[in-house]
Amino acid sequence: MDAVLNEWASLLVRWVHVIAGIAWIGSSFYFMHLDAALRETPDIPKGKGGEAWEVHGGGFYQVRKFLIAPAALPAELIWHKWQAYSTWISGFFLLVWIYYANADLYLIDPAVRDIGPGAAAAIGIGALGLGWIVYDRLCHSPLARNEVHLSAVVFAFIVAAAWLFQQVFSGRGALMHVGALMATIMTGNVFLNIIPNQKKVVAALIAGKEPDPEFGRQAKARSRHNNYLTLPVLFLMMSGHYPLTFASPYAWVMVGFVLVAGASVRHFYNERHAGRGDKWWSWGLAAACVAAAVLLSALPARFQRDADSAATPVHVPEAVAEIITGRCAMCHAAEPAWLGFATAPKGVVLDSPRTIAQQADAIRVHAVLTNAMPPNNVTSMTVEERRSLAAWLQSR
Ligand code: HEC
Repeated sequence: MDAVLNEWASLLVRWVHVIAGIAWIGSSFYFMHLDAALRETPDIPKGKGGEAWEVHGGGFYQVRKFLIAPAALPAELIWHKWQAYSTWISGFFLLVWIYYANADLYLIDPAVRDIGPGAAAAIGIGALGLGWIVYDRLCHSPLARNEVHLSAVVFAFIVAAAWLFQQVFSGRGALMHVGALMATIMTGNVFLNIIPNQKKVVAALIAGKEPDPEFGRQAKARSRHNNYLTLPVLFLMMSGHYPLTFASPYAWVMVGFVLVAGASVRHFYNERHAGRGDKWWSWGLAAACVAAAVLLSALPARFQRDADSAATPVHVPEAVAEIITGRCAMCHAAEPAWLGFATAPKGVVLDSPRTIAQQADAIRVHAVLTNAMPPNNVTSMTVEERRSLAAWLQSR
């Protein structure tokens, strides 16, 4: 029963996390689009806001933005902040539930670094806090006077963090922490910068004073950073299910490519919505980055295949079945013997020659092309055994 509850808790929190994320990212996209689409209106002085007409759900919306005090400010303002907070809180809960509570399956790979679960969790949480501080300091440094310089340094910082995480955690744990670091920066932007600055602006407007434009400028810059980070963060959150990304020794380089690809797709839409034309080159750049990541993910596979061809080919399915039974079936069985699993993980059953043959392609991806399975090699599968699997797969 424990395993059933465990699985459900993970599913339900993931559900909440995805819903909150959709709400947050949806409103972020909406406001970026709205801001870009604002046009001048006679009622608002030039440069102090604008107006957009929208149609949705059978009605027309006339939305106006004021950077100065409007004639009357209603008592009730709608704030957009809980989408961000609930995304981060549910995400942090998942990080603890999946990666810190099951550190030996998901976070610690003894072949990378043999650390205890407590130390691994402390390093993970510490890195998220430290990452925010470094980013925030960079935004307050003289570097921030130039958006391009700041972006370049933040980009280098995130790629360097990815490399560092790969020196400490399993591939999967490393990419998840890069995603969590970026998501923490985004939430920190909302919680510690955008909302406090907005509060100051609102207070000034209500007092009939001209708000310091610096507050608005900062909040806008941070929400622009968030907007450019959204697509790469989503990729990293999904990458844990795709060993060709996380199990690659070059995963940290892929993080760089994904950052550029995601940001350039956002750039296309930001420019288009602002009426500055369609910058089709952004799609070209994004496609080139994705292609580079795909090629990079195949590199270790190619090295491994070279090594395989040198090994004596083993055409013995019985031997293959023996390897799978010995290394995989304690988890991947209809009734797993491994403590904590009620059913075969991901429904992948590998307990008979027939099911093994059915899963041949998946075995190739997860145990031959990559060493994603067994997780962190908990069942001590040897390189020889992987070679035998490779030879069998090649001879089919
Ligand atoms: C300690 C338990 C354990 C062992 C041993 C194990 N696996 Fe897994 N396997 C898992 C878990 C947990 C998942 C689900 C991972 C996830 O949530 O993405 C999984 C998922 C999979 C998947 C589906 C992956 C996906 O994302 O679709 C395949 C295929 C697989 N394992 C193959 C193997 C093979 C082949 C072996 C032996 C070489 C093996 N596993 C050994 C626990 C194990």
